[in-house]
Amino acid sequence: MALLKDSLSRIKPSATIAVTDKARALKAAGRDVIGLGAGEPDFDTPDNIKKAAIKAIESGKASKYTAVDGIPELKAAIVKKFKRENKLDYKPGQIIVGTGGKQVLFNALMVTLNPGDEVLIPAPFWVSYPDMVLLAGGEPAIVPTRMEDGFKMRPEALEKAITPRTKWIIFNSPSNPTGAAYTKSELKAVTEVLARHPQVWVMSDDMYEHLVYDDFEFFSPAQLEPRLYERTLTVNGVSKAYCMTGWRIGYAGGREDLIKAMAMLQSQSTSNPAAVSQWASVEALEGPQDFIAKHNAIFKERRDLCVSMLNQARGLHCPKPEGAFYVYPSCAGAIGRTAPSGKTIETDEDFVTELLEAEGVAVVQGTPFGFGPAFRISYATKTEDLAEACRRIQRFCGNLK
Ligand SMILES: Cc1ncc(COP(=O)(O)O)c(C=O)c1O
Repeated sequence: MALLKDSLSRIKPSATIAVTDKARALKAAGRDVIGLGAGEPDFDTPDNIKKAAIKAIESGKASKYTAVDGIPELKAAIVKKFKRENKLDYKPGQIIVGTGGKQVLFNALMVTLNPGDEVLIPAPFWVSYPDMVLLAGGEPAIVPTRMEDGFKMRPEALEKAITPRTKWIIFNSPSNPTGAAYTKSELKAVTEVLARHPQVWVMSDDMYEHLVYDDFEFFSPAQLEPRLYERTLTVNGVSKAYCMTGWRIGYAGGREDLIKAMAMLQSQSTSNPAAVSQWASVEALEGPQDFIAKHNAIFKERRDLCVSMLNQARGLHCPKPEGAFYVYPSCAGAIGRTAPSGKTIETDEDFVTELLEAEGVAVVQGTPFGFGPAFRISYATKTEDLAEACRRIQRFCGNLK
């Protein structure tokens, strides 16, 4: 009898973690490597949040189990956040806190998918979505987008992808990996289609909500289309905007029966998310927010630097995204050329492997995100390192024969 369960063969390890590990190994071996693979801010958690955590530890509030779905203080702060920032009304019973947005998304899929249920995932997508759907027993149904459309789904493409088996759409704006964010009118076109299909639930992954540039205005689907409120799970977290990836807190608001089922699953798996992180998150949501604008000014400068430098690299084309901290250039113009090692570049995986070997720059190939040949750069890294990495990418592309 095989050791591992059969359904495990449906999934694969995260490609983003794999490239980060490879870059780390090269660095440990003494190579000069610039890692642009990791999807987390280079900034440290703000001091007021750290202090709130220390206070929680010292006062004993972090020592014990908490309610599985989160401490009342954090749920109250989340209710206020949804009202303040998204004009969404949720009661505390409609809120769940989990160990990262990742667990919240996973819980929701696990408690809702029956075999054969389809989940629409617009491509390019965050690498974990299809694997989570598969693990939960559902079928990912990829909805293609085009680079010319800024990687945003056309309403006709969405309409065409919906079937009687469609249970969810996972909607992510601003997007990992492209940084694409839907404007109010682009989102309205999508929610209009969804409103016509009452069997489709909407999982809105708003993780990068605060990371938008050039006066972009963010809207969440249930905010823009009240007809979707009852069947939308609005997912968010403190990882990205509050520089708290290591603290592992994500949350969601949605229909009470769904939230209850997710909490039941969590009660039988991880129980409550770490108490200290929950108290830190109360401070994140309720404390000063001014550092977000400061970080965004830096992120915007880095985005503009990357877009400009990558568009000067031979064979690359890099659209300018509205948000997150990623750019997603096409490397179609490098395919068929020969790298300094003598290897012909046939895929985007070859491109990133040769780039890492030749120039010590770690990026992630596009294919696992559902769109290639392309690659993802995370610009959440020091500006000098980013400029140097872009110079090396230009040199690498220029040296291809
Ligand atoms: C689009 C998207 N959603 C969700 C997550 C999960 O974030 P966390 O589990 O840290 O809250 C990430 C993290 O990379 C992400 O990029």
